[in-house]
Amino acid sequence: MKQKINGKTKVLGLIGNPVEHTISPLIHNTLSEKLCKDYVYVPFKVNRGNLSKAIEGAKALNVTGLNVTVPYKEEVITELIEVSLFAKQIGAVNTLKYTDDGYVGYNTDAEGLHKSLLNNDIVINNNDIVIIGAGGAAKAVGILCGSENANSITIVNRTKEKAQNLANNIKKYYNVKTNVLGIDEIDRISSFDIAFQTTPIGMSPNTEHNPIIEEEFYKKFHTAVDLIYNPYKTKFLLKAQENGIKILNGFEMLYYQGVRAYEIWNDIEIKQDILEDVKNQIIDSINLDI
Ligand code: ATR
Repeated sequence: MKQKINGKTKVLGLIGNPVEHTISPLIHNTLSEKLCKDYVYVPFKVNRGNLSKAIEGAKALNVTGLNVTVPYKEEVITELIEVSLFAKQIGAVNTLKYTDDGYVGYNTDAEGLHKSLLNNDIVINNNDIVIIGAGGAAKAVGILCGSENANSITIVNRTKEKAQNLANNIKKYYNVKTNVLGIDEIDRISSFDIAFQTTPIGMSPNTEHNPIIEEEFYKKFHTAVDLIYNPYKTKFLLKAQENGIKILNGFEMLYYQGVRAYEIWNDIEIKQDILEDVKNQIIDSINLDI
């Protein structure tokens, strides 16, 4: 059933800059349609310096829920009355829920990744993990790995200091062994279980790029997860697949972080069969080159 905007329609949205290429409106509006919820989800481009006013305005307009994207995921925290445990540990918020006293912040990236791993029978518990990159996305991966009791976490990054900061942050909350390497020290890694590729390297249009070109690396682990979903298989995942490694891209993480935000706004748990239908509808409509 197609939803029509009326006097009772509630507003959900995304704040960030840029917001033009987001697929969040597609995810949330398709969920609303499928669940017959009277919501409309719109992107709001917020210029630098206007974040505070945007949050205040959203509150005054009774905007039920917001997603937050680059560059405001960290800065937004000071505008909120409360943040969830994961959001606090990751140090970033991607979902806001309206309350009469102000917005409460959540981070659904780690939960989205967790759900996508569970769906694909990938287990962190007791496994040795390598995280490539140490930016915003790596923070959510690191905290998830800590909370899921990884046996060890090795962070590999071009700027070693950032990798060390990420390791320190994980250790602040979780009792897990961590190691830190520069990307040029990758040959020092011994065998492990799961690699998470969290850098933008290999993302469309730079699909020929791969952060790890050393052949030996691909002989050392059994599961490769790339947070990129465009292309559907990055050079990193193709190389892993060639070596008999199980692969997973970032599409389901993106989808399920959106789903989790939608569940938080509505205080519901959406059934798996509906989630699969909506997921397939989205894959069809964005024409991913699978
Ligand atoms: P995000 O915050 O969204 O995760 P990012 O900050 O643009 O993304 O980059 C994430 C990671 O990719 C960073 O750790 C970055 O390395 P640095 O810490 O050294 O900046 C890494 N990265 C990005 N482009 C890179 C490149 N061309 N070569 C090596 N590493 C790169």
